[in-house]
Amino acid sequence: MELPPRPKLFDFHGVSMTNYFTDNWDNVQNFQARPDDILIATYPKAGTTWVSYILDLLYFGQTDPEHQRPIFEKVPFLELLIPLYPPGVEVLDNLTTSPRLIKTHLPVQLLPKSFWEQNCRIVYVARNAKDNAVSYFHFDRMNQAEPEPGDWNNYLQRFMDGKMVFGSWFNHVTGWWEKKQTHSKILYLFYEDMVEDTGRELDRLCSFLGLSPSAEEKERVRGGVQFDTMKKNSMANYSTDPVMDFTISPFMRKGKVGDWKNHFTVAQSEQFDEDCKKKMENTQLRFRTTI
Ligand code: A3P
Repeated sequence: MELPPRPKLFDFHGVSMTNYFTDNWDNVQNFQARPDDILIATYPKAGTTWVSYILDLLYFGQTDPEHQRPIFEKVPFLELLIPLYPPGVEVLDNLTTSPRLIKTHLPVQLLPKSFWEQNCRIVYVARNAKDNAVSYFHFDRMNQAEPEPGDWNNYLQRFMDGKMVFGSWFNHVTGWWEKKQTHSKILYLFYEDMVEDTGRELDRLCSFLGLSPSAEEKERVRGGVQFDTMKKNSMANYSTDPVMDFTISPFMRKGKVGDWKNHFTVAQSEQFDEDCKKKMENTQLRFRTTI
């Protein structure tokens, strides 16, 4: 089946969205979470796949007979409704594995309420705005299911204005951050920390999830989720996803902190920092743009 032309952005409950994430809205909002579900929540391009694969290896790495399936099938995308795939909600409803690992990019205020009612564990991953914007730009270039990105300068302006699929980065990271202050079942991870010391963040993840893998097991997971290893792994690198054109840009692109320096001009960087400072004025949340 061929994909229709690139989708358009529109306002949806105050958040920019495309129809691929809103067409199934009633079913998404009525989604029935189970108490042992683990939700992986992120703004797009913050390290969703990395954490998804870590969790997949921790829970199913050795035992699951169906291990050889792409990560986007193993960790279904809750709100997705796109012609080439079965709806995320339907896949999740039919999933019998436990725990279910669930991916979402929804901002905190749009999350279906049953996740709160069931008190599910939620792993949120955040990435500094500059690298996040760069990664999103390249993703939108190569992904036919995303709106046309246009040139970098306009794209950056749109990013600052929050006119991205799933809305404003600022609202997303701060919204989940504020929620975490009163909700103990949210682990808030930073992409930069994961790059700096994957083993340490793996320990934090395990302690949050109540897992105690052996040192050997942990090392096996750590090795399996390194950037170069994942990039070569067709089950983790999205190479089997029909909407992505890897000749434009690979999904596993650079995996670095600070690649923004190769994209931002000095003027863009200054304007961005200024804008960021204003928007982050009322939060304690801080990011590192280099490590
Ligand atoms: P870059 O485009 O900067 O390379 P998501 O999974 O949320 O879409 O995020 C994708 C980003 O995470 C990409 O960033 C990708 O390369 C990076 N990434 C994925 N796996 C990674 C890993 N094992 N180590 C470091 N970065 C990783």
